[in-house]
Amino acid sequence: MSDKQVLLIVGGGIAAYKALELTRLFRKAGVGVRPILTRAGAEFVTPLSLAALCEDRVYTDLFSLTDEAEMGHIELSRSADLIVVAPATADLMAKAAHGLADDLASTTLLATDTPVLMAPAMNVRMWGHAATRRNLATLKGDGIAFVGPGEGAMACGEFGEGRLAEPEQIFEAAMAMLGAGGPLAGKRAVVTAGPTAEPIDPVRVLTNLSSGKQGYAIAEALAALGAEVTLVSGPTALSTPLGVRRVQVRTAVEMLAACEAALPADIAVCVAAVADWRPDTVGEGKLKKKPGGPPTIALVENPDILATLSRGARRPRLVVGFAAETGDLIKYAEGKLKTKGCDWIVANDVAAGKVIGGDDNTVALVSAGGVEQWAKASKAEVARRLAARIAEELA
Ligand code: CTP
Repeated sequence: MSDKQVLLIVGGGIAAYKALELTRLFRKAGVGVRPILTRAGAEFVTPLSLAALCEDRVYTDLFSLTDEAEMGHIELSRSADLIVVAPATADLMAKAAHGLADDLASTTLLATDTPVLMAPAMNVRMWGHAATRRNLATLKGDGIAFVGPGEGAMACGEFGEGRLAEPEQIFEAAMAMLGAGGPLAGKRAVVTAGPTAEPIDPVRVLTNLSSGKQGYAIAEALAALGAEVTLVSGPTALSTPLGVRRVQVRTAVEMLAACEAALPADIAVCVAAVADWRPDTVGEGKLKKKPGGPPTIALVENPDILATLSRGARRPRLVVGFAAETGDLIKYAEGKLKTKGCDWIVANDVAAGKVIGGDDNTVALVSAGGVEQWAKASKAEVARRLAARIAEELA
């Protein structure tokens, strides 16, 4: 993303301070940020703090000779791959919906054909007002994308919808939009994630501790590079990454069916911790305690989703599996490469440190070409590296 540029319009509102955190997230991901601060926005954040985080100057005034000499408003609007308006006030939305152009922010919005993402923030009554609803519908009809607002307590003491989306949410939405022209544009990917839950009876399941974090991060990273991603997920507590289609499943059998329904695909990444076995029979009613002692639950083997996709007639061009091991990592990973018939295995040692449910991962990429050991990184970073490698492979 290091060649990408965002034009960030910061409107006036108590939530404007969140634009600083948003800027930090963009810069960390290597995305350039050029800020426009409206007059009202400058009442809430200082141009200096914004400029320091952006490592660029802040544009504020349509009629400033220095601003216009350095970069005119027309050029400004064309210099970015994406325009993000955060916070998008009721006033900014109204101006954009009606094509008004009386300051630098509104003029830039009118003079551009660059994709625009708005993150509205305003009082709950302003958000619910018929005029704002009309403007929202108009802007959506004009092709402007929206993220949020969320619901919660407001600075004005009221409660309801109108809170600016969290910086991470705005960042994710923006990255998904930036990826639309990315190296994986036009490619389809299937990602499995999370555990599966195999019913024993109507109230009990056989499952495992997978959080789904690594799989969700991979789905998000592939989408950020432009892929059309179907995330087939077992039960998790995670929200769907932006720009990703999620198919919710419970069992391994359902997961396989959902993966096959998502074919054809160019890429399959199987991250799910699929239960190897399921109870042979599922009790129709709740199993009751009996004097003879606990029941014996007979198990049958579940389908291997990775192996089935790898060997199927509609095999995706690149099939990637994961191997979570507690010892002999590379030996087992190389074995799985053969038994499963996939192209790469991302192997991680789950014995060392807290990997399951944690935020970091140390992995090795094992393929027919050899073993690549990657340094310890966050699951999000591992996902971005893997997505970049996939893009390279399919280029
Ligand atoms: N996998 C799968 N379907 C299964 C079992 C595993 O798709 N029924 C996939 C996982 O998503 C992962 C890879 O296979 O990408 C390896 O999973 P792992 O649990 O490490 O291997 P197992 O096949 O279960 O082998 P073992 O239990 O012997 O380690």
